[in-house]
Amino acid sequence: MNILVVGGGGREHAIIKKLKENPKIKQIYALPGNGGISYDATLINIDPLDFDSIIDFVSKNTIDFAVVAPDDPLVLGLTDRLLEKGIPTFGPTKNAAIIEGSKVFSKQLMKKYKIPTADYEVFDSAEEAINYVKEKNRFPIVVKADGLALGKGTLISQDLNEAQDAINSIMVDKIFGDSGNRVVIEEFMQGPEVSVLAFTDSKTIVPMVSSMDHKRALDGDLGLNTGGMGAVAPNPYYTDDIAKVCEEKIFIPTINAMNNEGRPFKGCLYFGLMLTEDGPKVIEYNCRFGDPEAQVVLPLLESDLLDIMQAVYEERLDQVEVKFKDSAACCVIAASGGYPKDYKKGYTITGLSDAISTGALIFYAGTKMENNELVTSGGRVLGVTAVKPTLEEAILHAYKAMEKIHFENMHYRKDIGKKALAVQGGNINASI
Ligand code: AMP
Ligand code: GLY
Repeated sequence: MNILVVGGGGREHAIIKKLKENPKIKQIYALPGNGGISYDATLINIDPLDFDSIIDFVSKNTIDFAVVAPDDPLVLGLTDRLLEKGIPTFGPTKNAAIIEGSKVFSKQLMKKYKIPTADYEVFDSAEEAINYVKEKNRFPIVVKADGLALGKGTLISQDLNEAQDAINSIMVDKIFGDSGNRVVIEEFMQGPEVSVLAFTDSKTIVPMVSSMDHKRALDGDLGLNTGGMGAVAPNPYYTDDIAKVCEEKIFIPTINAMNNEGRPFKGCLYFGLMLTEDGPKVIEYNCRFGDPEAQVVLPLLESDLLDIMQAVYEERLDQVEVKFKDSAACCVIAASGGYPKDYKKGYTITGLSDAISTGALIFYAGTKMENNELVTSGGRVLGVTAVKPTLEEAILHAYKAMEKIHFENMHYRKDIGKKALAVQGGNINASI
């Protein structure tokens, strides 16, 4: 089989590496992929948002199955275009991807179907939004741009001044463009965060092993928000009892709600959850695998990924086995110094074969091949994942492998998994 994977980051590399375990697969095209992904797939130099060129490519090449991984092509309807062309595709259609594409939509869905989430109001005028914050006078308060904003559309304000700045920058200065035509202003919640990715064909929903992202740039959850600096799975806060509550009150109601709205969701649905004192609540939905969550969840998947994805497409997910290893995984992201702000690119990456020889997996993100050498080309450069019987071993192994890798101005957090381990009663301070 020939498979097309749309996207070019660490998440897409994790999907490709997992798919490759299926012996039926002859060729994987990564569109556009990145330098490091070329070790595992054929790169197709087309922008994931250039739908006409993508349709032209699939018309001229035999593609037996496609996977659309990133949010923007999903929200803009690439799955619909591929399906129209007769290509079996994993990933929701546009009318279902709106669950991530519009925060206003997702909040209204949750309210209508009584799915637990933070209380909120929607505004399309900055003045009204600011008046509401003044009236409410409760801080911190959370301001969210309605549309996609590269994961940066959520601003948490500690006081009225900050909230005014947040609202004005989104709605007046339009720092996220039209995504800021409307804002959601919501109550600030507290508690541990859990990511749960789930396969669903709109009839059956199968949650994957839980995980924990580390969004801030610096150790101790300090510094700016990033796309994610590392992840561990499973997430020790997510007990079997909590999983049961989430299934009953969040996962199944969400699938039913989408069906009821005439928007059946087929693909990977991501639940960003907060375990509050009042029970688990939804922070956000994503219409795709998380990054870097995919880099810890997929290496733990024992079952065949292509079989599952085909079953989702054919709406027979209840007939396939989705099994996870009884192990733990840790992924540490190496970023370009300065990320998520300005950073330099073009530095040679060394030590990769030494890192791989430890048994760790490397998932490439911001990399490019130049004169047969892999160089940095983005903020998040690569992720190193280790899978081990315990979380403690996985963390130690991931860091051991990371120590072999070098590029100028390389930055990685030294405390990925530390919080998770503390929940389990372990301690990694002595070892790292
Ligand atoms: P989002 O853009 O919705 O993914 O939010 C990004 C991050 O902001 C989340 O992972 C949370 O850490 C935080 N966040 C979002 N909404 C809330 C909220 N209502 N209360 C507290 N923290 C939040
Ligand atoms: N790791 C968060 C996300 O993929 O949106």
